[in-house]
Amino acid sequence: MAAPYIVALQNSAEDLRRILLRELEVPPKCQPWSSKILVADSLDHEALHRIQLALMGDEVLPPCRTLLFHRSPCPGVERALVAMGIGDVIEESAQALEVIRSRLQRWEQVDAALCLPLVADNLIGGSAAWVGALRTIAECALFSSAAVLLTGQTGTGKELLARMLHSLDPQARQHELVVVDCTTLSRDIAGSELFGHERGAFTGASSARDGAIACADGGTLFLDEVGELPLELQAQFLRVLQEKAYRRVGSTQWQRASFRLVCATNRDLMAEVAEGRFRADLYYRIAAMTCRTPSLAQRRSDIPSLVRHFIAHAGGGDAPAASPSLLDYLAARHYSGNVRELYQLVLACMRRYAGAGPLSLACLPDEEIQAWGADGAAAQAEAPLWHAAYVDDFVRAALRENVGLKELGRMVEAAAVRLALEESESITAAASWLGVTPRALHLRKAAARGPDLH
Ligand SMILES: Nc1ncnc2c1ncn2[C@@H]1O[C@H](COP(=O)(O)OP(=O)(O)OP(=O)(O)O)[C@@H](O)[C@H]1O
Ligand SMILES: [Mg+2]
Repeated sequence: MAAPYIVALQNSAEDLRRILLRELEVPPKCQPWSSKILVADSLDHEALHRIQLALMGDEVLPPCRTLLFHRSPCPGVERALVAMGIGDVIEESAQALEVIRSRLQRWEQVDAALCLPLVADNLIGGSAAWVGALRTIAECALFSSAAVLLTGQTGTGKELLARMLHSLDPQARQHELVVVDCTTLSRDIAGSELFGHERGAFTGASSARDGAIACADGGTLFLDEVGELPLELQAQFLRVLQEKAYRRVGSTQWQRASFRLVCATNRDLMAEVAEGRFRADLYYRIAAMTCRTPSLAQRRSDIPSLVRHFIAHAGGGDAPAASPSLLDYLAARHYSGNVRELYQLVLACMRRYAGAGPLSLACLPDEEIQAWGADGAAAQAEAPLWHAAYVDDFVRAALRENVGLKELGRMVEAAAVRLALEESESITAAASWLGVTPRALHLRKAAARGPDLH
């Protein structure tokens, strides 16, 4: 999973390159680093384009971390480089080597964490989007104790990441990970579930009981579906975060608790804040660090390894291979339920597996095959994955809004560029998918983004 480091140098590149290689004692596993030093004459827009093209050519962005070392900053260009995925842009100074060294050390630690079996064997996928999320979580776990908010569509692995965060956190992992599903907190029991209660605090409270906060002391409290937390409780919970103290239901005594807070939601919490359903002050407390899990559509290249992982999980020792046509089908299909839906589909195939040869298209559930249409598999093989009717609907709506032909074409092109980039691992892959050269795609991307790049 470890990716090479890149240090891009500008001006006096030869001198700096020699100093860096000697001073930083580049470890052997980072060898590609030494051959990936990029040289730009000056850090202007022209240099930016050349750096972009060079990086694209190597298909190293964004999974590989890049430091750009330079002498004369041009703020617009620096912003564009960071937006491209350059890990850091370091200005030449007496401390520059020290800064580079500490960045590399930190990245080494994150890479080592991602290679641990608890991560590598359970959180499957090597796509740029997924590895980016894994890195964010490893960084949070290793270098900070701040609250983390996980957002992303349903079934994208938020709970998996919360568990990974707990397991990598050197302090919290010595204690409990307490999971509270906020959708199950009814108004009546919510206070007691979180804060615990005293004996006789309410009808049925026959004995005193610890709540989730007490159980998570020293460890991690994971509030799943945090957007469902009732408003009254949000105020009380905010106090816990601010004062690290809480009272059991029915008690006047303050108790102390300290824990790492991880929250997850598939709602747009900012929209909830705007509509008064979620407290803004609580939002900023729980979202000290954030990580958005990519949808399966944004990491299609991970589908084959996920399928193999799920087959092995379900099949134990003699797990069959998946046939190429099944893999192709699964990789192209739409998943509104993301990885969870893929998992269920693979399990359904395994249930129909006859016990010899590869897992094939015929193992798919009947309703899946019937959904291909009246002509069955042949129709599926030939049918486009999109339908002209969708295009008609879109064009009709745009024409009604008086969108002209030129603007329509521009909108379609911008959407195609954006989606291909989102769903590809590299600009080169996106370009070949769109049938253009990387340079042409880069220019279109720059045109679509307009002033952002400059
Ligand atoms: N990268 C992955 N590798 C292996 N399994 C995965 C991966 N991502 C998700 N899964 C599996 O997909 C299922 C859904 O994951 P998880 O429960 O973490 O999703 P979620 O984002 O919390 O969903 P929801 O918002 O619906 O609660 C689980 O069975 C999980 O093990
Ligand atoms: Mg979940």
